[in-house]
Amino acid sequence: MNIKLTLLPGDGIGPEVTAAAVKVLQLAADRFNFSVKTETCSFGGQSIDEYGVPLTEETLQKCLDSDSVFLGAVGGPKWEDLEQQRKPEAGLLKIRKELGLFANIRPAKIYQALIDSSTLKKEVLQDTDFIVLRELTGGIYFGNPRGYTLNKTDSAERHRQEKGWNTMVYTRKEVERIARRGFEMARGRRGKLTSVDKANVLDVSQFWREIVIELHKDYPQVELTHLYVDNAAMQIVREPSQFDVILTGNLFGDILSDIAGMITGSLGMLPSASIGKQHALYEPVHGSAPDIAGENKANPIAAIASMAMLLEHSFEMKKAADVINDAIERTLAQGYRTADIFSEGMRLAGTTEITERIMENFEEIFNEQALGVFTL
Ligand code: IPM
Ligand code: MG
Repeated sequence: MNIKLTLLPGDGIGPEVTAAAVKVLQLAADRFNFSVKTETCSFGGQSIDEYGVPLTEETLQKCLDSDSVFLGAVGGPKWEDLEQQRKPEAGLLKIRKELGLFANIRPAKIYQALIDSSTLKKEVLQDTDFIVLRELTGGIYFGNPRGYTLNKTDSAERHRQEKGWNTMVYTRKEVERIARRGFEMARGRRGKLTSVDKANVLDVSQFWREIVIELHKDYPQVELTHLYVDNAAMQIVREPSQFDVILTGNLFGDILSDIAGMITGSLGMLPSASIGKQHALYEPVHGSAPDIAGENKANPIAAIASMAMLLEHSFEMKKAADVINDAIERTLAQGYRTADIFSEGMRLAGTTEITERIMENFEEIFNEQALGVFTL
């Protein structure tokens, strides 16, 4: 098999973590007998600097033509004051929309070796293993009307007229397709689906809830519960192990997945997959961390784990994905830590060093498995 992969390294630490993840992917390709052809395109702030827009038609076309897309990170202070449509983030939203990536999968799993470095107590974290399934191409992120008026004068009357607005809107089709994913995902795991909304206040949420309840009839083996988003945020830090699959809309999923990321010790650990009917994009959940960009300090684990998700979800190579994830576990168990997850007594490693360790462990695990040894 040959994988045609478009790389969008993006801004800040994006290029460093992308390079690390590609190295690991190439190693997996060598060992598991497939090949990868990558093409790197300009995206986000970098593309704004070069072409004036965060996503050019050419880059978009390359993404549409490839088997899969890998994205590093976008954004930074340099582009923060641009108007909404020209910000790097607008490029990310556009690519999600154009590729039809409606399902965003963000797994929150505890790495045993890191259980002590979370801000939450070990007893609370034990056995945490859930997925935030976030709707990604609808809701308030894309709803119309949207906009704001700001009059740059001091007249009191003008100030009274100023306002900003967005619209949270979901169609039946949008709710159905993500909800079905949620039920299917839960069915393949521990059979528990928690739909998160704000149905006590928002009409769009009541609509969401009624459709989810309706679809439940097709998945009787799945246990369905509903939570309001404020309560869900609280429950994730109170007792994260109660969750299996959390199904939610675009905005709520954005917020809850950052909370979930912190549970695992650092956002630098959280991978994600964004999947549509025909296309898929993989990216670490963390941002571009401009303060440490180019210093070989970034944690590449989320990016590397995103490559594992790519192999599993887009190419049915669960075995190769497992070896990557086991190699990450083993590297952490050996005490290697980037600065964001460093604690007393551990070995501080830069981006390239921890990537090399992960690759060595990959080789080791691969060889052990080839010999029939299955210890971690
Ligand atoms: C995320 C990010 C993005 C989002 C931003 C960068 C547009 O926070 O992927 O969670 O809000 O979806
Ligand atoms: Mg976010």
